[in-house]
Amino acid sequence: MSSEYLFAHKHILGLDHLSVPDIELILNTAESFKEISTRAIKKVPVLRGKTVVTLFFEPSTRTRLSFDIAAKRMSADTFSISASTSSTTKGETLADTARNIEAMMPDILIMRHPSSGACHYLAKHIRTSVINAGDGTHEHPSQGLLDLMTVKEHKGEISGLKIAIIGDISHSRVAHSDIIGFSKMGAHVFVSGPATLIPKKIERLGATVCTTMAEAVSDADVVMPLRIQTERQNDPLIPSFREYATFFGINRQVLQTARPGALLMHPGPINRGVELAPDVADSAQSVILDQVTNGVAIRMALMYLVLGGK
Ligand code: CP
Repeated sequence: MSSEYLFAHKHILGLDHLSVPDIELILNTAESFKEISTRAIKKVPVLRGKTVVTLFFEPSTRTRLSFDIAAKRMSADTFSISASTSSTTKGETLADTARNIEAMMPDILIMRHPSSGACHYLAKHIRTSVINAGDGTHEHPSQGLLDLMTVKEHKGEISGLKIAIIGDISHSRVAHSDIIGFSKMGAHVFVSGPATLIPKKIERLGATVCTTMAEAVSDADVVMPLRIQTERQNDPLIPSFREYATFFGINRQVLQTARPGALLMHPGPINRGVELAPDVADSAQSVILDQVTNGVAIRMALMYLVLGGK
């Protein structure tokens, strides 16, 4: 990729609309920004005078704090609104809420929303840059990118790797962004889980569906279990967490069937003892906290690039 490559996206709504050179530019930019977080004075002036608003309609620990820290490390001014403190609780529409926020001239609006497509909808109604921090079961692009960065950092390259994603694929926006992102970058993504949690036509995103978890994990370079997202399920889709852990939980024995040196990843939050055994979560193969660290660098890169990289 030429160093002259221009990032032409005003919004980050999903990995679906990013090209391979776009993703490479984001990863390279994040790699160069990562060092800032290791300095004694963790601040650079690249977004000085810019205003970043986070609008979260769902709970978050990692994503919200990570965007906030990333913006502050680049000297932007940041403001947060959550569902309970916004006037949507008084009947205001999402579009009206966004237009009112826009009237205060922010430069970037970062939104998490329970409805798939909510960030696309917002991007059509306002001129401010919109970054999707997770929309329903659709996409979580910054998580997908930090996962790509973490694998590239540990494995040197992404192309040709076998990535196993296990569990609630249907309700996981992370799984969707990861399948799209890893496939675009030349990796082979295998998914497995209870049949009730594997969406029809997931192959269209680039994943291979395995009927057994053993098939997906065997010789994998990366193993990523996912939390069962009960908050998005109207009816129970698994008999019990105990049975789920027996058949689809990642424990030491299962991880040993992956390629030696395989990475254990998880987007968080973890339900220890359900999708992931606690000793494996804390093992030397786990890069879960590296994912969190890289999240700050990726979000710095995204905000920098949507504002023109200047
Ligand atoms: N990975 C992730 O989106 O975590 P949070 O829900 O804590 O932001």
